[in-house]
Parts: sequence; structure tokens; C-alpha cells
Amino acid sequence: MPGLMDGRAGLVTGAAHGIGRACAIRFGQEGAKVVVSDLESAREAAEETVAAIRDAGGEATFFPCDVSRSADQEALVAHVVERYGRIDFAHNNAGIGVHAPLAETSDEDFDRVIAVNLRGTFLGMKHQIRAMLRNPGPNRGAIVNTSSNAGLRGVHMIGAYAASKHGVNGLTKNAAIEYAEQGIRVNAVCPAAIMTRLMSDLPEDRQAEIMAPQALKRPGDPMEVAAAVVWLCSDEASFVTGLPMPVDAGSVAGW
Ligand SMILES: NC(=O)c1ccc[n+]([C@@H]2O[C@H](COP(=O)([O-])OP(=O)(O)OC[C@H]3O[C@@H](n4cnc5c(N)ncnc54)[C@H](O)[C@@H]3O)[C@@H](O)[C@H]2O)c1
Repeated sequence: MPGLMDGRAGLVTGAAHGIGRACAIRFGQEGAKVVVSDLESAREAAEETVAAIRDAGGEATFFPCDVSRSADQEALVAHVVERYGRIDFAHNNAGIGVHAPLAETSDEDFDRVIAVNLRGTFLGMKHQIRAMLRNPGPNRGAIVNTSSNAGLRGVHMIGAYAASKHGVNGLTKNAAIEYAEQGIRVNAVCPAAIMTRLMSDLPEDRQAEIMAPQALKRPGDPMEVAAAVVWLCSDEASFVTGLPMPVDAGSVAGW
């Protein structure tokens, strides 16, 4: 059976672990050529993602990128185009969190979260869109950003993170309306609690607090996010753009 992403080439940031790793693997399973990207310091884990894709018969390679640095993002996109001739999809997924009430959040933590989550998404899209506009039309490319259900509502103790993810949803909608007519679709996924290091590193009572608004009372599996990300990047979602899509066990529905 043909894969949803057969012959397409693209990148996933923050793909050494968690949701990004799951998405990179799923892109590979669906026939895509995947550039697995993460911090240089995460190279070893990122190479495990590459190996998982190759072991399943897919095509993948690692390229380091700190998403908060414009030069890194430009080099990452250039690498995809150099290696595969074009860039068809991009998943801006790298992200970090800080847990503290607003008045106790340090200026440095606020700036760090905004630099990675929001500025990182802006820089990624900027360089990805420039390259996609060079693809022949009508369908030039698809971008998915990893936001959060904290991009759709407030969540106690993560004000800086919520601000960054509301910003990601804003950028997603703007990029979608600005580039729709040029054949680029842009969407976001807004997961609730997914069992990755971001969750498992937290104390159990904090995990329970984060999961409390969910209608499905369990943490999600990263592959449950990957299914939505890959679908949004595929032609199956050809009429979908500008959507911050909850993948959130009903947490926003019950809000
Ligand atoms: N796990 C959840 O419950 C959850 C819920 C909603 C949204 N998210 C979002 O999902 C995304 C992935 O998170 P995860 O849960 O898989 O966490 P994770 O910590 O397992 O993975 C995050 C990855 O991002 C990488 N990274 C961090 N800073 C980076 C930078 N400056 N440049 C490049 N890579 C960088 C890390 O090395 C890591 O591999 C994040 O954007 C996060 O905000 C997670």
C-alpha cells in the first residue's frame, strides 16, 4: 500500500526524543525522506531515531540545529534541499517548559522558553517557507508546528510556556493565511499530556494536576500525536490550513 508521504522530503526538529522522535519515525513509515534534527548535544539520541527509521526500511539522516538560532535553521533547510532536491514538509516541534507561577518565573526562564518555543517556530517557518516557495506549484509544501493545549487555554504554573504556545498558534494562523494562495499549508497540533520526558520528569502529583482537565484520564502516547502530524502534512489534509488542532483527550472540549 502506498504511504501517505511517499517521495516527500522534510525535517522534524526536536526529534531525538518524545513526540519529535515518534513523528520522524511515522514520517519514515509513510515513505518520507526525513532529516532528523535536534541539538548537537542530543546527537546520540537523534542517531537512534535515524536508526529506527532506517531499520524499518526508511531513509533518514541527522542534522544538528538549535532552533533558537536563525543561522542553524537556515542551514537545516539548506541541508534538506541539498540532499533531497526540495523540502516538502517541516515539523517545528522542539520545545521546552518551565513550571512556576508567573510572579516567580525568572526573566531568564521566560526569555529561554520564548526563544526556543516561539522564536524557534518563527525562524523555522521563515526559512522553510522561503525554500518551499521555490517548489513548483500548485502544492508547494506543508508545515506543522507543535503547540499545546496550553496554546488554547491557561494552565496553572506554566505562564511562560502558555504565552509561547499561544504565540505559536498565532504565527500558525498568520502563516496559513499569508501563504495559502501560494500552495503552502500551515497547521499546529495542540497536545495535552503526552508521556515523554517533559511529563515523566515531573512529580506524580503535578502529572495528575496537568491531566485533570482531560476527558480521557490517561497520558497520550507520542505516536498518537504523530498520527495527527503526518496526516496534516499529507495530501489527505489538502483543505485544512490555519488549524490549531487539539490532540488532547477532550481537555479543551470540557473547558
Ligand atoms: N509531552 C507533553 O505532554 C506535551 C504536551 C503538549 C505539547 N508538547 C510539546 O511537544 C514538543 C515536544 O516535546 P516532548 O514532550 O517530546 O519533549 P522532549 O523533551 O521529549 O523532546 C523535546 C526535544 O526538543 C529538543 N530541544 C530542546 N531545545 C532545543 C533547541 N533549542 N533546539 C533544538 N531542539 C531542542 C530536546 O533535545 C528534545 O529532544 C514540545 O514543543 C512541547 O512543548 C508536549
